[in-house]
Amino acid sequence: MSDSKVYNDYFFDEPIFDLHDGGYIPLEKADVKDQPLNIPAVIKPDKVDGNDVYYTITAQEGETQILPGKKTKTWGYNASLLGQTIVFKQGVHYHIHLVNKLPEVTTFHWHGLNVTGPVVDGGPHAPVYPDGSRDIDFTLDQPAQTDWLHPHPCPNTARQVWNGLAAAVVVTDDEEAKLPFPRNYGVDDIPVILQDRSYHDNQLDYKADYDVDGTLGKYALVNGTINGVFNVTTQRVRLRILDGSDRREWRLHFDDNHEFTQIASDGGTLPEPVKFTKLMLTCAERAEVIVDFGDKKPGDVVTLMSDDMPIMKFKIGEFAKDDTKLPEHLTTIDAPKVTPGLPVTRTVMSGMDDQVRLDGKLFDMQRIDRKQKIGDTVLWDVVNTNDMDGGMIHPFHMHGCQFLVLSRNGKEPYPNEHGWKDTVGVNAGETVRIAVQFTKFGVYMYHCHILEHEDTGMMAQIEAYDPNHEHKYHLISMDEMNHPKNK
Ligand code: C2O
Ligand code: CU
Ligand code: CU
Repeated sequence: MSDSKVYNDYFFDEPIFDLHDGGYIPLEKADVKDQPLNIPAVIKPDKVDGNDVYYTITAQEGETQILPGKKTKTWGYNASLLGQTIVFKQGVHYHIHLVNKLPEVTTFHWHGLNVTGPVVDGGPHAPVYPDGSRDIDFTLDQPAQTDWLHPHPCPNTARQVWNGLAAAVVVTDDEEAKLPFPRNYGVDDIPVILQDRSYHDNQLDYKADYDVDGTLGKYALVNGTINGVFNVTTQRVRLRILDGSDRREWRLHFDDNHEFTQIASDGGTLPEPVKFTKLMLTCAERAEVIVDFGDKKPGDVVTLMSDDMPIMKFKIGEFAKDDTKLPEHLTTIDAPKVTPGLPVTRTVMSGMDDQVRLDGKLFDMQRIDRKQKIGDTVLWDVVNTNDMDGGMIHPFHMHGCQFLVLSRNGKEPYPNEHGWKDTVGVNAGETVRIAVQFTKFGVYMYHCHILEHEDTGMMAQIEAYDPNHEHKYHLISMDEMNHPKNK
């Protein structure tokens, strides 16, 4: 790829943007004054003991000033809304005390972390009941990337995220640390968590806004802030963008068509930087981008838009000149060789509304739908059969692994899909071929990441197994997850 190529389109099939969905709610401008963008604090460890680091993470209720007037009742992790940012380093052993101070059962899912399932991973098999806790530990053994923590208690994931639970997770490593990327958290390296909400007398009302095809809100929030402003004090700023919405796809661009460079996807650094003026993210996808404001002067304002709606502003202040150029090659992806002799795994996302299915079935927590041997690299064809008029994009997500996107309907993947991913938007009528390898044994979910589709049951489970070590898994039922036996 040539260094100067700048892409000017969203890549995704335009006719099936969610604008075409019957229940689609376009973003509206909120009558809220510009306010400082919320930058979540970084969580502090309880204890550091050599290579062992201890954290307590509490899911809690709180109140947040989102709109003028009455505060909004919200949920968060160690915060009233969203969560404190959790920073992990490759190679460190983490011990995490998970506490539930919510009035209902929740789970703590590490979206993007390659940890064992189904318990450490935090899917529905790892409930934490009100006033209860759970302790997990794992060694972080994956490269630098942006992940996130969110609840996963079927069938209430969508509502709990809507209420506010979502925290940014930043993974660091020594290799990425050598790359000329901004990494001063809160100054030139910030999370950009994209969500949309509506309010009723300043309160959330999930039931009132619920849509079985994915709940949408009319106001855009970035890190929980409506009309947020970030003060730019460095020439280059790194944005760790996360689509943390229940349903919404974000089509991002700047009001002045300013260009930006993607350096990482879900699973970490891209092999080569990719320059754009437009970027679309589907639910749960992440993109790290660097924006170079070198052509701006103090007092200038650059607005980040989604479709035709402003979602946040960058207010340019004084900054020291920094013309650091990114290398043309950022990292080498060691693509695992496909294990010979294995059939292609075909998985099908079908239906809309309450008819959504994965491989023709609804989720059953006590059913293992597939098995794959750890260490094997298997081709998966992920199919979206919604090809009729009004079809929709389903973002396909797998726990317990990062995969490589090989093709879309037999064609090259998008230019920013050459790195590791755990979530991929699958267009209507499309088959996306990915290469999947599990390195840890366990039972893992794979599903559509439109949270209401997931809650309806567009989800299945795979056991990653080691033929030499048989494991028995206690797979609880949805009933047991929601109603503890002896509580
Ligand atoms: Cu983001 Cu099954 O999760
Ligand atoms: Cu996940
Ligand atoms: Cu879906």
